Amino acid sequence: MENKDVILSGKEITKSYGDNTVLQGISLELYAGDFTVIMGASGSGKSTLLYVLSGMDKPSGGKLCYRGQDITNASEKELTKLRAEDFGFVFQRTHLVSSLTLKENICMAGLICGSMSEKEVKEKTDMLILQMHLKKAKDRLPAQVSGGEAQRAAVARAVITKPVLLFADEPTGALNKANTEEVLDLLTMAHTEGQSVLLVTHDRDAALRGNRILYLEDGIIMGELMLEPYLGRKKEREQKLASWLEGFRW
Ligand SMILES: Nc1ncnc2c1ncn2[C@@H]1O[C@H](COP(=O)(O)OP(=O)(O)OP(=O)(O)O)[C@@H](O)[C@H]1O
Ligand SMILES: [Mg+2]
Repeated sequence: MENKDVILSGKEITKSYGDNTVLQGISLELYAGDFTVIMGASGSGKSTLLYVLSGMDKPSGGKLCYRGQDITNASEKELTKLRAEDFGFVFQRTHLVSSLTLKENICMAGLICGSMSEKEVKEKTDMLILQMHLKKAKDRLPAQVSGGEAQRAAVARAVITKPVLLFADEPTGALNKANTEEVLDLLTMAHTEGQSVLLVTHDRDAALRGNRILYLEDGIIMGELMLEPYLGRKKEREQKLASWLEGFRW
């Protein structure tokens, strides 16, 4: 395997809620430029792991490093800065600002990050609106659009800043097939452009977009599958994933 930089690493990460230990000492390195996928049954700890790795939630034990820097005990202020500048987030349920239109939601994320000029933000917003087929819905509030439109806007909002590392937790969980493909295409595009992606999903079509797939069971990483970078749907790729998942009685 080629030598890749470690972008984020967790050592012996644990997370407990009372006496329920959800993450049982996970050691994991995420590599720059990878599209990493975490699969696993409901309740296996996927979201918990994503929240801990992204600094949204504190681990109960273990060590977390981002680009070689220990962020385990980083202050909330430092973590907020990191999340705003380097990370992007997409969730199963969108967290759009309800008082702003879809277009304003996308635009605002670009303006807040501070690394783009207003003109650049405007151009990118327009491009993403076209790409995500949001022309008709762009001037409506999140409450006035469909779930698919809202989610497409949420993904556009997450990628407009070109985050170093994009975290996505079941971003297609509530979407139909057409919307799912559009959202996945945008994640694939981010990856192709060099961004790192960490996707949590139980959906095979979504998992196929990754080049590295991890399987989580009861808070332990049980296996890892490496794939070539995604270049469109291929039978062989689907079969590889299917037979790997069979090993976990999936
Ligand atoms: N805030 C919390 N307090 C107590 N227990 C929690 C909390 N959050 C999660 N859990 C428990 O931790 C376990 C793992 O939850 P998590 O949300 O990480 O699972 P998941 O793999 O993402 O599942 P799903 O596929 O259903 O989203 C579950 O048993 C859940 O009930
Ligand atoms: Mg979850």
